[in-house]
Amino acid sequence: MAAVVAALDACTGLTGPGGGWSGSYGGPFTVSLANFSALAAVGGVARVDGGSGAPTALYRNSSSSFVAVALVCPHAGYYPVDVVSTGFYCPVHGSSFSKTGGVQSGPSPSGLATFSTTYDASAGTVLVNRPT
Ligand code: FES
Repeated sequence: MAAVVAALDACTGLTGPGGGWSGSYGGPFTVSLANFSALAAVGGVARVDGGSGAPTALYRNSSSSFVAVALVCPHAGYYPVDVVSTGFYCPVHGSSFSKTGGVQSGPSPSGLATFSTTYDASAGTVLVNRPT
């Protein structure tokens, strides 16, 4: 029993910086692709929120489409999770996620939240439909 309590304490006590995400997501915002060289090629990932609202990354999953991923770990709320070559990694307890946010290994019980996007090829921008 003591081991279980200790494990739970570890999960709830290591959510810094700032604890779990509880504020506004910050609403929609537009990303200029020219500012993120990692997004020039299919498969690229970059954090794009600029420090405003919920930390958010974009993954370019094709030449004309993007997936927006919230960098907030569903396990105990740590943010921002790290961008790594395979997707995303939470350093607190070691959960890893694919580039589309799906959980690859726990303890996270679910994947990262995702937001829809709208790509404007002529303008070179992506609208991230992040909730308010
Ligand atoms: S907060 Fe526990 S794995 Fe991310």
